[in-house]
Amino acid sequence: LPSGHRRLLEAHRYAEEFYRHLLLNTVEGEEALNYLYGRGFTRDTIEKFGIGWSLGNRESLVTLLKRKGFSDEELSESGLAIIPDNGSGAFDRFRNRVMFPLHDTNGKTVGFSGRVIQKAGNEPKYLNSPETPIFNKSEILYNYHNARLAARKSGNVILFEGFMDVISADEAGIQSGVALMGTAMSDKHLSLLGRVTNEVIICTDGDNAGWEAARRFSRMFPTNRLDAKVAIVPEGLDPDDYLKKYGGEAFRDRIIGQPHTLLSFAMMYAKREKNLKNENDLLQYIHEVLKELAGKTTPVERDIYLKQLSEETGVSVDALTSQFRKSE
Ligand code: CTP
Ligand code: MN
Ligand code: MN
Ligand code: MN
Ligand code: MN
Repeated sequence: LPSGHRRLLEAHRYAEEFYRHLLLNTVEGEEALNYLYGRGFTRDTIEKFGIGWSLGNRESLVTLLKRKGFSDEELSESGLAIIPDNGSGAFDRFRNRVMFPLHDTNGKTVGFSGRVIQKAGNEPKYLNSPETPIFNKSEILYNYHNARLAARKSGNVILFEGFMDVISADEAGIQSGVALMGTAMSDKHLSLLGRVTNEVIICTDGDNAGWEAARRFSRMFPTNRLDAKVAIVPEGLDPDDYLKKYGGEAFRDRIIGQPHTLLSFAMMYAKREKNLKNENDLLQYIHEVLKELAGKTTPVERDIYLKQLSEETGVSVDALTSQFRKSE
């Protein structure tokens, strides 16, 4: 471990402890704590995930870390502080945000994501640490260090879009959840998943963005090595919303317990926003599904899905089969 890395990790340990203390033990943290309680998170969960609060002052963390012997340059390199162009000293990057520590695969805190509790202007809802020598978004899955252990028992890992979903699921007893940090899925993410499981359940938000994300993720899975399925959350809810509305049992039984195969998800995706009574939509739908079937499918899968397609569209299996052969 380069000694610079050790210093950056040390700064993050101090920061996490500082933010945690502010949230749990100070008047300044009360509003944020109530915000979290209001969202249904328990004290245990808040502590388990190391959640904290950053003050609104420009230099509260900076002051603390300088007292611990860190230089402006180190603080800037850590991403915890920013050195402005005008030559004045480093100031805190995270202010007035609920702080979520982000861990590397060994569980060491290497960055933060901070959430505003009340949007005032056009500041982003979440602010993440920038890329640093110890933090690289495309190599991090939120909660991976916990999920890898849980996955041994559950046999799968659940891939969520947001880390709030991971935290809610954990509270409901589902501990094998991970999330991307608001970034695209990388090969590194895939290999991290492949190291701890051979079954990934993609469970993105139920809104449009979530469907698009599920579509993107599902196409990246190398089906020969990693079996992926897609769990759909209804009513445009995200997993956290669903858990709070219907509870953990419903989420386990109806959502995570009934995931769709990639092909079945591809058909649902293709059908979305189409009216199969409309001839153009119908033809387009058949075209898209046949294209999907021409991909990495076995003869048995083809048989199953051509039958299903026939039932949905009223077109005979024979016609679909010959069309399929032509398009192959
Ligand atoms: N995200 C981000 N910046 C934003 C919005 C989202 O980095 N301005 C990332 C975050 O990592 C977040 C994920 O995208 O976890 C999912 O976004 P979203 O669904 O909007 O957030 P939720 O997890 O639903 O958060 P909340 O319930 O607090 O609104
Ligand atoms: Mn921690
Ligand atoms: Mn979303
Ligand atoms: Mn969401
Ligand atoms: Mn949410």
